[in-house]
Amino acid sequence: MHVILKFVDKTDIKAIPMTSLIIYESVFGNTALVAEAVREGLSLQGEAVALNYTEVKEADIARADLIVAGSPTQKFSTMPGIRKFIGDLPAGSLKGKLVTAFDTRIDVKKINNRFLSLMAGIFGYAASPLAAQLRRKGGKLVVPAMGFFVDDTKGPLTEKEAERARTWAGAIRTDR
Ligand SMILES: Cc1cc2nc3c(=O)[nH]c(=O)nc-3n(C[C@H](O)[C@H](O)[C@H](O)COP(=O)(O)O)c2cc1C
Repeated sequence: MHVILKFVDKTDIKAIPMTSLIIYESVFGNTALVAEAVREGLSLQGEAVALNYTEVKEADIARADLIVAGSPTQKFSTMPGIRKFIGDLPAGSLKGKLVTAFDTRIDVKKINNRFLSLMAGIFGYAASPLAAQLRRKGGKLVVPAMGFFVDDTKGPLTEKEAERARTWAGAIRTDR
């Protein structure tokens, strides 16, 4: 690969394969399904692996060009497990890497509860704080964090959300 890269014109940079790592946490399986859809979308651009955060090794992170983190939204934020995992990464360990994040969440418009809508409006969801954590470790945000909907606490994923996740990930480009 290195030999080939020497002769690649700069304008062809976006054609270089990207190695992607999706790190997720999931309680009821829905975020795991989105992680798999994201993996499928990214696999169009090179090797892509989705791992539960408990399975991720230092070497998996070191070899990834792009890191996508995903968490269910619970209590308007990220799950403690993946939050601690990213928080414990050494300072600067994502320098030179592209990053983004996603979450799964309930659509407040559908539950018709003004108090919860207000709370969600104020305190938000898991994806943005997760993306901010990745940036604090040196990562460069490649696309804004994204939320995907579940119909209820245990799921299922709302219709077409897996497809939307695949498309979202497929549109991520290395040349940013
Ligand atoms: C204790 C608890 C708190 C939750 N809090 C929120 C919340 O603040 N906002 C939200 O949109 N969904 C909330 N949910 C719904 C979760 O987002 C939903 O269970 C999750 O997306 C499912 O993903 P998983 O199957 O990967 O666990 C909560 C669920 C649980 C069990």
